[in-house]
Amino acid sequence: MRTLLTGGAGFIGQHVLRELLARGHDVCVLDSLREDVHGGRPWAPPPGVAFVHGDVRDPAAVDRALQGRESVLHLAAKVGLGVDVGDMPDYASSNDVGTAVLLAGMARARIDRLVLASSMVVYGEGLGVCPAHGSVAPAPRCEKALAAGQFEPPCPVCGTPLATGLVSESAALDPRNAYATSKVAQEFYAANWARTTGGTVAAMRYHNVYGPGMPRNTPYAGVAAIFTSALRQGKPPQVFEDGGQRRDFVHVRDVAAATVAACEKHETAVRAFNVGSGTPRTVGEMAAALASAMKGPTPQLTGHYRLGDVRHITADSSRLRAELDWHPQVEFAAGMQELAANA
Ligand code: UD1
Repeated sequence: MRTLLTGGAGFIGQHVLRELLARGHDVCVLDSLREDVHGGRPWAPPPGVAFVHGDVRDPAAVDRALQGRESVLHLAAKVGLGVDVGDMPDYASSNDVGTAVLLAGMARARIDRLVLASSMVVYGEGLGVCPAHGSVAPAPRCEKALAAGQFEPPCPVCGTPLATGLVSESAALDPRNAYATSKVAQEFYAANWARTTGGTVAAMRYHNVYGPGMPRNTPYAGVAAIFTSALRQGKPPQVFEDGGQRRDFVHVRDVAAATVAACEKHETAVRAFNVGSGTPRTVGEMAAALASAMKGPTPQLTGHYRLGDVRHITADSSRLRAELDWHPQVEFAAGMQELAANA
């Protein structure tokens, strides 16, 4: 397929690009090589790949990049939790204005297939299970409770600490920070576009993606990169809260395979797909696995917390397996070893 990949020079984008090429697709990359991600370093596409160095918010660059394309994989975005509320305009502009400009361009070019990089953060605090009230949406955690070391979100009805459930795609959306809000808005813009143009959208709700090429030493780095950076310097990983936060760490090659599978196979309307390994781990477990693989110091539990963080968020990715015939290939232990070896 002749496809446009936005954000193809980024962490996940480069793996998606590799997968697209391995599967024989004809690819054009649109990437602005943002300073806060690429640090001014140049980037050259692999042979045979067209490259438009431009911003997805620039209609002229978008029109150029869309010429002759049949589908779009939209990964260009400002990622991470951000530093503070001052980041809000940049999330709204980079992610939401960018998506709106791209969708308008796709309508002009009559391109009707879109794969959108979304995120598990759209679910907010995820799904909790109360012994008395069953499946409930945990309330946001208040600063007072966090400061007192009460990290588990309580049942919104009776206050009992909740067990964690696996979130399915039909769970309510509940974005808790600017990045999450921008991802929800992207999904809705894409759905609006699909309704008026008859296009198809696969919204890939990525879980915590890790693997070779992870951004590091930036305020937007994920926890696995932060821990490997610390260990490389002989320092213990600083584990926030009590280390019991659960995530689903999914390898970037598996994420790339899921994304390309959606581009090839998703053919009807608007569909969200959770993208997770299916095996939740705690942040403490991950820190211990990396410390052991890198023969570094024991991780430190700091009790520190970030207000925008959710406590647990774990995906039910069975829709992706069933509908797109995707199966993760990289086991957690092997993935951590690989990360350690490349640190
Ligand atoms: C991550 C992604 C986000 C994605 C989401 C999907 C990053 C930066 N964020 O968010 O883009 O949409 O997954 O689920 O990749 N922590 C520590 N020590 C540290 C840093 C973090 O213990 O030094 C803890 C945090 O408190 C949190 C967990 O690690 O509980 C994960 O943090 P982070 O890697 O920032 O990812 P998410 O917030 O889950």
